[in-house]
Amino acid sequence: MKVLVTGGAGYIGSHTVLSLLENNYDVVVYDNLVNSSIESIDRVEKLAGKKVEFVEGDICNKDKLSQVFKQFKIDAVIHFAALKAVGESTQIPLSYYQNNVHGTVCLLEVMQQHKVHNFIFSSSATVYGEENDVPYVETMKLGTPSSPYGASKVMVERVLADLALSDPNFRGVSLRYFNPIGAHESGTIGEDPKGIPNNLLPYVAQVAVGKRDKLGIFGDDYPTKDGTCERDYLHVMDLAQGHVAALDWLNRHSEFSGVEAFNLGTGNGTSVFAIVKAFELAINKEIKFEVSPRRAGDLPAFWANANKANQQLNWQASRTLEKMMEDTWRWQSNNPNGYLA
Ligand SMILES: NC(=O)c1ccc[n+]([C@@H]2O[C@H](COP(=O)([O-])OP(=O)(O)OC[C@H]3O[C@@H](n4cnc5c(N)ncnc54)[C@H](O)[C@@H]3O)[C@@H](O)[C@H]2O)c1
Repeated sequence: MKVLVTGGAGYIGSHTVLSLLENNYDVVVYDNLVNSSIESIDRVEKLAGKKVEFVEGDICNKDKLSQVFKQFKIDAVIHFAALKAVGESTQIPLSYYQNNVHGTVCLLEVMQQHKVHNFIFSSSATVYGEENDVPYVETMKLGTPSSPYGASKVMVERVLADLALSDPNFRGVSLRYFNPIGAHESGTIGEDPKGIPNNLLPYVAQVAVGKRDKLGIFGDDYPTKDGTCERDYLHVMDLAQGHVAALDWLNRHSEFSGVEAFNLGTGNGTSVFAIVKAFELAINKEIKFEVSPRRAGDLPAFWANANKANQQLNWQASRTLEKMMEDTWRWQSNNPNGYLA
C-alpha cells in the first residue's frame, strides 16, 4: 500500500514515516521544507533501511500535487503539512488560513480528481476550544479556539464533515493529537524548531544543552495542583504508531465511509513544573527557569479521554514520561544544532 505523507519531513511526519516503513507501507513524502530539513528523510531511510520517495512541493500547488498522484499509485494520504505556531498565527492569520485551510482544500480536490478516498488528518486537542470540560471526548461539540491556528483545525474538520456528507466514497480520519514530545530512541531524528521554540520540551532541552539561558514559565497561579498548566504529553513514537493504527483501521473497515475522530493522548495531565523535574531527573542537571505572567489564550489544564482509540484502533500510548525525557535528551545532546549539526 502506497501512502502520500504531506509534511513528512517535519517532526511528527518523520517519525510516522519511519513507523509506516517498519510496517511495510511504501511512502511518498511531499513537503515544501518551510519548517523542516531534507536531512530528516535521509536519517529515516537509514533507520528503516528502506527508500522514501521525496517530492519538494507546496500543498497549494495543485498541478504539482496532481503530478505526484499521476506518477505514484497513491492509496491513502496522511496530511501533516501545516503551519503550527499558535502565537505566530495571531500575527499572520491569513498565512495560516491560506496554508492550513486552503492548502487542505487543494489537496482534497486533487485526491478527488484522482479517486483517492483514504485520508488521515493531523487535528489537535485545540479543536475542543475553551467551552468543553476535561477530559475531552470525541462526542463533544467542537469549540471555538482563540487562535487562528486552532480555528484552522476546526475549519478543516468542518470541511471534512461536509465532504463526507457529499461524497459517499470519502473515508476520513481526524486524529486529535494532544502534546507530542520526545524523539526516536536512536537519537537521530527529533524535533528541530527553527528559531525560538514555541513548545515546552524543545525549550527545556535547549536550556539543558546551553543554547538558551533559562526557561520562561508562563503563570504559576492556575487552578491546578502546583499552579502551572497541565497538558497530556505523549511520546512522538506512540503518536506515530497511532497513524499506522488508523491506516490499519481503515483497511479493516472496507465498508466504512464518512469521517471519524480519535483522540490520541495518554489520558493523564502533567504540569510544567512536573515536566521540568522529570527532565532534571533524566539528565541529572538543574534547569534554570523564571516564572512570568500567564500567556493569553493558555488553558489551565486539559487531557484526553483516549478510550475510543484504545478500543477501536487497538492503540495505546505506552511509553513513560521518563522515556519521553530520556529520548528528548538523547536527540538534543547528539544534535545540539538540530539537523544542521
Ligand atoms: N507538534 C504538536 O504539538 C502538534 C499538536 C497537534 C497537532 N499538530 C499538527 O500536526 C502536524 C505536524 O506537526 P509537526 O509538529 O510535525 O510540525 P512541523 O512543522 O515539524 O511539520 C510540518 C511539516 O509540514 C511542512 N509544510 C508546512 N506547510 C506546507 C505546505 N504548504 N506544503 C507542503 N509542506 C508544508 C513543513 O515544512 C513541515 O515539514 C501539523 O498539522 C500540526 O498542526 C501538531
